[in-house]
Order: sequence, then structure tokens, then C-alpha cells
Amino acid sequence: MNSTESESASEDRRGKPAEITVHALGREYRMPYHPGDTLLQTMRQNGIPAPSLCEQGVCGSCMVRRLQGEVELRENFILTDEDLAAGYTLACQGLPVSEVCEIEIPS
Ligand code: FES
Repeated sequence: MNSTESESASEDRRGKPAEITVHALGREYRMPYHPGDTLLQTMRQNGIPAPSLCEQGVCGSCMVRRLQGEVELRENFILTDEDLAAGYTLACQGLPVSEVCEIEIPS
């Protein structure tokens, strides 16, 4: 990688986490995050059995709760403003947009 590519790669990562922490099944998992991947893609790539159905922001089966950090939703047809204010987000549409990202899969 030359310096231009290196600078470009670090710009792509700016404001995004290097890793994601997921609380699921009574355990805490840490996994690397690749910019552009959704929370659901990241969990799947790391063997976390995250629930999902539509993967289009419609059904809500992939709902997770943010414990730390900010998540931007590509689409959201199910969560209300109250849900969002309470920290709920959709793993299938969620892109982390802060340097820290910690979520939990509700049991
Ligand atoms: S899987 Fe349906 S909203 Fe995410």
C-alpha cells in the first residue's frame, strides 16, 4: 500500500470503530469492523447467530440495542422515534458511525 492508499484507508475509517463489541447469550464478543459492513454482516462474519428475516429494515427481527456509540440506519420501516431514542436499532441496516460501537442482542 502506498502513502496515498494508506491515507485514503485511514480517511475511510475516520469516525468508524476498529472493532465492535456485541453482548449476546450472556457473553461479550469483540470483533473487527470493516467500514461499509452492517452490524448484521459483521456479526455473521464472526460467527454470532444474530436473528434476521427480511434484511430490508421492515420486520424488526434483527433489532439490537446500542449500549455505546452511534449507528446510522440505511432504511427503517419499523422502529419509532421512541424506539430509536431508547437505543434500539436494526442490525441489517445499521452502519456504525462513531469510533466506539457496543450493542446487545435482546434475549
Ligand atoms: S431483518 Fe428485517 S428489519 Fe432487519
